[in-house]
Amino acid sequence: MKRKKFVAGNWKMNLDLEGAKALATELNAHTGEFHCDVALFPSYVFLAEVQHTLKHSKIRLGAQNLSYSENGAYTGEVSASMLASIGMEYVLIGHSERREYLNEERDVLCLKLRLALKYGLKPIYCIGEPASVRNEGLHKEFVRDQMEDCLSDFTTEEISNITIAYEPIWAIGTGVTATTSQAQEMHEYIRQHLGDMYSEEIAQRMRILYGGSCKPDNAKELFLCPDVDGGLIGGASLKAADFLAIIEAAQ
Ligand code: PGA
Repeated sequence: MKRKKFVAGNWKMNLDLEGAKALATELNAHTGEFHCDVALFPSYVFLAEVQHTLKHSKIRLGAQNLSYSENGAYTGEVSASMLASIGMEYVLIGHSERREYLNEERDVLCLKLRLALKYGLKPIYCIGEPASVRNEGLHKEFVRDQMEDCLSDFTTEEISNITIAYEPIWAIGTGVTATTSQAQEMHEYIRQHLGDMYSEEIAQRMRILYGGSCKPDNAKELFLCPDVDGGLIGGASLKAADFLAIIEAAQ
């Protein structure tokens, strides 16, 4: 099955309002050249303005996070229904920075996935092992557990709305990227395991993105791996020229 490539830009806690609008404007000027799916993940506070900048654009939008609660007295939190009500399409769940710095674990991530799907958001569920686990040779078991923690028991329709991002923690923001054989090995394993958990058909349909120091000079070889369906890009999504080069590499 041919899967359409997908390039997502995770802006993390970067830029200010002017910078966010300028970057969105510059990317939007090039959508005529896009032959893959492209989505941006600005900070919550810029979502409305960036959405306005991207009105009628091919570029999709998503949030970097959502609350594990449906609504109510959760000061500072943003719910799935709020994101859906402003027209968000995607949401990141399980990013390693949130797992590590905000202690987000299995139970919270499962609640977030359920709520995102309930309100029609498409989650990008991030998984990936730390260096210590890879050094012990346990990286496959580690991501398998992260998949089984949160991806069990969905309907065919629900699981089909989830994208997986494989992001080895040792590659995120470090400048060290996975080699093509490391990336392909893990993506193939993740797809096989989706096949075991669901069906071969679902496994072949779902997109698995690579993340971790993906840059213009390594994107093409990574995206040529048969099971790498695009990238979740951090640092290199903050410069229009770099992000556009990565989009170009995906097509
Ligand atoms: P990076 O981040 O591209 O800066 O390594 C990727 C991510 O955290 O999604």
